[in-house]
Amino acid sequence: MKRVETIAEVRMLLDAERREGASVGFVPTMGYLHEGHVALMEVARRENGVVAASVFVNPLQFAANEDLAGYPRDLERDMAMSEAAGVDYLFTPSVAEMYPQPVVTAVSLPSLAARWEGASRPTHFDGMATVVSKLFNIIGPCRSYFGEKDYQQLQIIKRFVADLSAPIEVVGCPIIREPDGLAMSSRNTYLSPDERQAAVVLRAALDRGMQLLHRRERDSSVVMAAMADVIRAEPLARLDYAAAVEAHTLEVPERLEGEVRLLVAAQVGRPRLLDNDGLIL
Ligand code: PAJ
Repeated sequence: MKRVETIAEVRMLLDAERREGASVGFVPTMGYLHEGHVALMEVARRENGVVAASVFVNPLQFAANEDLAGYPRDLERDMAMSEAAGVDYLFTPSVAEMYPQPVVTAVSLPSLAARWEGASRPTHFDGMATVVSKLFNIIGPCRSYFGEKDYQQLQIIKRFVADLSAPIEVVGCPIIREPDGLAMSSRNTYLSPDERQAAVVLRAALDRGMQLLHRRERDSSVVMAAMADVIRAEPLARLDYAAAVEAHTLEVPERLEGEVRLLVAAQVGRPRLLDNDGLIL
């Protein structure tokens, strides 16, 4: 595996690979890798001639009150894990390389980004979509792999790629979980042992919502209230939202039908945790 730190070099290397006929798989991350990230790299490895990944903790997607400096980092370990997962090029730019001057451009999708995560983090998705679009411009035509773990993020990326005709095939991949059902996340390292146990309440709320849907409950407010009750019953969790939405617009229909996604978020100790699940009715 080759570590690359500049935009010019990673562009040159991947252009050369494409000229040789290789398809490029690309996995963007903020590092502190876990099995969820590794699973994306492994799918990219299977489906492409060459695999690039990035580790970049993107300041644009953190608000002033969020802990950018405290975001967990371990580049040595990330390099070892990426190499083991079959990554050929690991792009690890500095903030100065990515943002040599203040960024005044934004990729903005208000109708998808304002609600759910966007309600508590109003600038987050603009910063995320802007960096992902910049990374796509740097990496060039590729298949790019994202986890369904960040479901709203995945919908936003799919939509701006379609809206802007970016030469990117966006591939969504299933959520990788701990044995007890907690979705893997770099932020789980912030949980105390008690909070770690309490954190399974997100999965439990989704299970309750899925059970109601399987029992033919179609009233979104009933499903949402039942999921919220599960989270409220856990003293160490503070409910942010529990929603049953149309899978692409992320809007709450009165009556659930077609592709439905259940989205939950709660603060457990220091981190806000997210989870989701879906089905086709
Ligand atoms: P990060 O949180 O590091 O996640 C990188 C990718 O890993 C995302 O596509 C995310 O959905 C996926 N992922 C995280 N946990 C997962 C899990 N348990 N199962 C499956 N996939 C999982 O998401 C970001 O970084 C950033 O916003 C980024 C897209 C890199 C832009 O800065």
